[in-house]
Amino acid sequence: MDTNELVFLAQKAKENAYAPYSGFRVGAALLDSSGKVHTGCNVENVSFGATNCAERTAIFKAVSDGIRNFETIAIASDSKELVFPCGICRQVIAEFGIQRIIVSKDDGTFAEYSLEELLPYAFKEFD
Ligand code: THU
Repeated sequence: MDTNELVFLAQKAKENAYAPYSGFRVGAALLDSSGKVHTGCNVENVSFGATNCAERTAIFKAVSDGIRNFETIAIASDSKELVFPCGICRQVIAEFGIQRIIVSKDDGTFAEYSLEELLPYAFKEFD
């Protein structure tokens, strides 16, 4: 799938953001290995720590639907700056080995990063 299209789908997913506390709407579009796209938005909570980011919403939705192989995740917000996934989302992105992360601005322009660039020395296993 074309990256511009994936960013557009992340922008559309942003429309469902539940962000009454921060006012910061985020959308994510996750491309799986079969070419299907799974979307998500941030879902906030009055107890702030219970908030779920857009990226994790998209990933958890897909995994819950039985999908575990992914290619790319695109992230969109209303910001004029590129918006990067938070630390917790980077760890979840690493869990499922999502290798391409597309971060975008409100105008749809984007930049591409590898998982290794965003989470070097990731915690992977324990024994
Ligand atoms: N947020 C995301 O959904 N994804 C990110 O990559 C950064 C932060 C959300 C969490 C919270 O609802 C709001 O943005 C402000 O932090």
